[in-house]
Amino acid sequence: MTQHHFPESFVWGSATAAYQIEGAATEDGRGPSIWDTYSHTPGRTLNGDTGDVAADHYHRWADDLGHIADLGLGAYRFSISWPRVQPGGSGRFNQAGIDFYSRLVDGLLERGVRPVATMYHWDLPQELEDAGGWAARETALRFQEYAAGIVGALGDRVHTWTTLNEPWCSAYLGYASGVHAPGRTEPAAALAAVHHLNLAHGLAGRVVRELAPSAELSVTLNLHVIRGASDSAADQDAVRRIDALANRAFLGPMLDGEYPADLLADTASVTDWSFVREGDEKLIAVPLDVLGVNYYSSTLVRAWDGVSARSDADGHGASTSTPWVAAENVDFLPQPGPYTAMGWNIDPPALTELLLRLQREYPSQPMMITENGAAFDDVVSADGRIHDDRRIDYLRRHIGAMADALAQGADVRGYFVWSLLDNFEWGYGYDRRFGIIRVDYDTQVRTWKDSAHWYQRLAATGQLDQAAK
Ligand code: FCB
Repeated sequence: MTQHHFPESFVWGSATAAYQIEGAATEDGRGPSIWDTYSHTPGRTLNGDTGDVAADHYHRWADDLGHIADLGLGAYRFSISWPRVQPGGSGRFNQAGIDFYSRLVDGLLERGVRPVATMYHWDLPQELEDAGGWAARETALRFQEYAAGIVGALGDRVHTWTTLNEPWCSAYLGYASGVHAPGRTEPAAALAAVHHLNLAHGLAGRVVRELAPSAELSVTLNLHVIRGASDSAADQDAVRRIDALANRAFLGPMLDGEYPADLLADTASVTDWSFVREGDEKLIAVPLDVLGVNYYSSTLVRAWDGVSARSDADGHGASTSTPWVAAENVDFLPQPGPYTAMGWNIDPPALTELLLRLQREYPSQPMMITENGAAFDDVVSADGRIHDDRRIDYLRRHIGAMADALAQGADVRGYFVWSLLDNFEWGYGYDRRFGIIRVDYDTQVRTWKDSAHWYQRLAATGQLDQAAK
């Protein structure tokens, strides 16, 4: 068995997001977000679950920081709820909301844990959605104002500022497939949202540079590893097309300063991209200290001839509900198992492949895994423990895959397990558990799963094999 050693400076962390854990949805001046509206709309989430209470982290944050410290983690990635700090999404800031994050950041620093703050993990203030949401350019400008407010307040106490989490989900799931808030199914709006999210990233990134020059700047993308069903030119063209929509629509402007020409051509029947104004692309390409990569599973596509039966895989390989924007001639295929409780296929080598691709294409860009983890149907045993061996196995294999990429030269600086706690898994509500710490939603009691003990050993030793049970 290969021994994996990580550099001394490698950072082990865990990640969460505001709407998924905080609860306190109407407390201390917080305004409604698109996820409040969406989850309260009948039929949108499994069992009608909402984030109203979630893991009650808003009240239990100090205890939760205790868990992070006990795990021995070097960093904690959390998100700031925009409607908690600026309820209407413009104008007035809510001091009580800012104070909450200020205490959280100080609490992390006191415990020797690096705060990694995401500015936007999907909870757009509802008022901004009512004014057009991410399909409107104005939303990016409002985001710049919001960024100035929080960076002004928290500044370089935050070690790393991450502008956006997974703009792919915000744009395509929110505005094309509609399986995420705000639940719209308008392909042209989805592509406008892609651009306005990119623009928001560039504008907010420049705010960080100006107001917190010693803080690090990042963005988190869920980059897709897309494989073709065959080497045929048609299947490989399907790969190229989905790569443009899913990956290069973000990497292009953010890291190369321009949208890929093939993306603009492929989507010409949906939009003419006239929402991209002179100078936008250069603005978006604010240099990043670290690129955040989220990885869970891989994608398999083939060309679709318009005649044969289409698989339209959702789950088993499509990683999450597949949005169809200018991809009418592509079929998303189911993948071989095993799968997690999300129905996502388990494919660790794809993570190595992804990191090596990024290293090859962006050789001077350091990276971090900002999310990786798995939902499984956890069982509380008679001894009160949660023996989540499959989660440990998933984590071990993916961390090993990351180590393989490091050994081949990928500049990966840290790894954040998703997630610290069981939480509100968006459309799947509380039914899917990703935490290394279990949350009993009746009592809000936290219990370390075996994976938490395993991860604690890994963080302490920096050696994957010694973390073995
Ligand atoms: C990612 C999200 C995160 C969580 C995981 C399972 O897409 O960023 O909030 O839901 O998936």
